[in-house]
Amino acid sequence: MTALSDRANRDAYIDLIKRSITNHLYLGEDAAFADFRSVKHYDVGQAHWKIDAYARPITLLSLAQLDLVEQAVLAVEQRGVPGDFIEAGVWRGGVIVLMRALLKAHGITARKIFAADSFAGIPKNTRALNDPVDKWRDRWVAPIEEVRQNIARFGLLDDKITFVPGFFADTLQHLADQRFAVVRLDSDSYDSVEESLVYLYPLLAPGGVIIIDDWHLVGCQQAVLNYRARHGIVEDLKVHDGNAYWTKA
Ligand SMILES: C[S@@+](CC[C@H](N)C(=O)[O-])C[C@H]1O[C@@H](n2cnc3c(N)ncnc32)[C@H](O)[C@@H]1O
Repeated sequence: MTALSDRANRDAYIDLIKRSITNHLYLGEDAAFADFRSVKHYDVGQAHWKIDAYARPITLLSLAQLDLVEQAVLAVEQRGVPGDFIEAGVWRGGVIVLMRALLKAHGITARKIFAADSFAGIPKNTRALNDPVDKWRDRWVAPIEEVRQNIARFGLLDDKITFVPGFFADTLQHLADQRFAVVRLDSDSYDSVEESLVYLYPLLAPGGVIIIDDWHLVGCQQAVLNYRARHGIVEDLKVHDGNAYWTKA
């Protein structure tokens, strides 16, 4: 039997990370990984998880959405775009695990990862009216200690990860000295997406990639389109499995 090459080993590690953070191994049953979404176990009508306590997906992302994170990380690294990575809206921290694993697997030592979240769930909108997100009973709460433990279980909790706890309106302004190469927004509501754009988009380096989850949610989409219009952003917006993204010129 021939040994795996370094590259095959690295890809196998990242593949296993993706399968673990989605909990595909436990929840997948006979679904192919490419078609699997842990979110389908969430009953939107009842607003609760329809999975047993032992099944703990730590991300809601599909494989295609996780692949988009990986592609963005590798693209900015290859192009030499300066800056760190941030996810605003981390829930249980699965994307942070993937980002940290990518740094490790590719020997990237000069970048850090920021995990920004209230760790108390999505607040109700105060500016946007009629955002359906305000009707959700489940506010996607994951306490910071739980998120830290989730990352630690992968052996990936270290000083490369900075937590930014609190509501975006109070916290993101304090990141003004940072520079980002990848910005991922995943906070669902109009107000939250708008706030994260206002504070984080100016910090994205030219050549950097912004990814916005929840393109199917009207408030999220409106917040992005309004922000792009207000700031004359004309870079081509693409949608990949429900995630919008573009590269900053
Ligand atoms: C759908 S979850 C994120 C999913 C996650 N990225 C994943 O990998 O599955 C939305 C997250 O956004 C956070 N959030 C939403 N609005 C926020 C705000 N204004 N300030 C801080 N956190 C916010 C919530 O606490 C929650 O953790």
